[in-house]
Amino acid sequence: MFEHIEFYPGDPILSLVEKFNADPRAHKVNLSIGIYFDENGKLPVLSSVRKAEIDRAKQAHPRGYLPMEGLATYRTGVQNLLFGADHPALKENRIATIQTLGGSGALKIGADFLKKWFPQSKAYVSDPTWDNHRSIFEGAGFEVGTYPYYDAEKIDVKFEEMLNFFKSLAPQSILILHPCCHNPTGVDLSHEQWDIVLQVIKDKQLIPFMDIAYQGFGDNLKQDTYAIQKAIDLGLSLFISNSFSKNLSFYGERVGGLSVVCPNSEEAALVFGQLKAGVRRVYSSPPAHGGFITAQVLNTPELFAEWENEVATMRDRIKNMRQKLHQALTAKQPNRNFDYFIKQRGMFSYTGLNPAQVQRLQDEFAIYLVGSGRMCVAGLNESNIDYVADAFAQVM
Ligand code: LMR
Repeated sequence: MFEHIEFYPGDPILSLVEKFNADPRAHKVNLSIGIYFDENGKLPVLSSVRKAEIDRAKQAHPRGYLPMEGLATYRTGVQNLLFGADHPALKENRIATIQTLGGSGALKIGADFLKKWFPQSKAYVSDPTWDNHRSIFEGAGFEVGTYPYYDAEKIDVKFEEMLNFFKSLAPQSILILHPCCHNPTGVDLSHEQWDIVLQVIKDKQLIPFMDIAYQGFGDNLKQDTYAIQKAIDLGLSLFISNSFSKNLSFYGERVGGLSVVCPNSEEAALVFGQLKAGVRRVYSSPPAHGGFITAQVLNTPELFAEWENEVATMRDRIKNMRQKLHQALTAKQPNRNFDYFIKQRGMFSYTGLNPAQVQRLQDEFAIYLVGSGRMCVAGLNESNIDYVADAFAQVM
């Protein structure tokens, strides 16, 4: 009956987590998946979240279904966070926002929507990108191409190549973009580069789909939305998937959002209806608990302020680890330039390690990175950084 089923070799990131968990070596270090671990190597429970949960637990709450689009307070919280509460586009009711099953759920609902209403379009992901971007868009029926992005020699963006590529695309081509903290490279566009890219996107009538999964890990919660704000200023219609997995340390609660900025409120109402229809046929409605807690953190000024500080603490710790790794490696190999470790932003660093070196790290040192050489810097801490730097120096 099932002989014809194709073998699934596993997800390149999630299989590493399984392998890491099964590794009996006590000194093992997980630098693979994009999860923030604190200075003790533990997954933090944020104090803002804990307070919201304690408050909510004071009363018994019946567990009814949420509506297809999710909680209204959650959706408002997402909008205020991404666009700013006073944004004219919000006042004009031209942004359709739904609560989704994490960032992946937002990408899936957005991709399904686009396939249904823009069936001729082709989708493009950055080279390289988070593997699931391609999988989700291919799963929705798109042909997925890549656009030039990462320059391994210069450890920078192939800016001119990328621009020329965008200029060559057919109108309504879909571009999956990372507005901050590029996954996997950690190499972002500058604000000036965003200005230029978004103008090209506008001129060529392309469809931007911005996936912001690491908001707050670049500069701060607000500044990390620069590309989104700029796109709206230019009058672009755009898709935004966002996630609270990382910045709220709320991974398993599957809290995300999909927002579509439309030209006017009539079109936003049409889009909103179709997003609901998309949710209904895939998972019917989003989960409630994470939605309520997230909404409470987003909408309670004291909790929001506390959360902002907690995000800053996570961001600063990662930056500190970048500095320490840079220092340690420079001391060990003074003739080599490791500046990229401090230039890259967000949780990830493209280390430049090749697959054979990554394999050696895993086999000989129990240090886990993704095969592409991507390291999750948030897995480093004071206790393991010297060990990791030693191991890197040995395999480099
Ligand atoms: C990652 O890139 O490691 C994270 O986004 C987690 C995941 O689901 O892949």
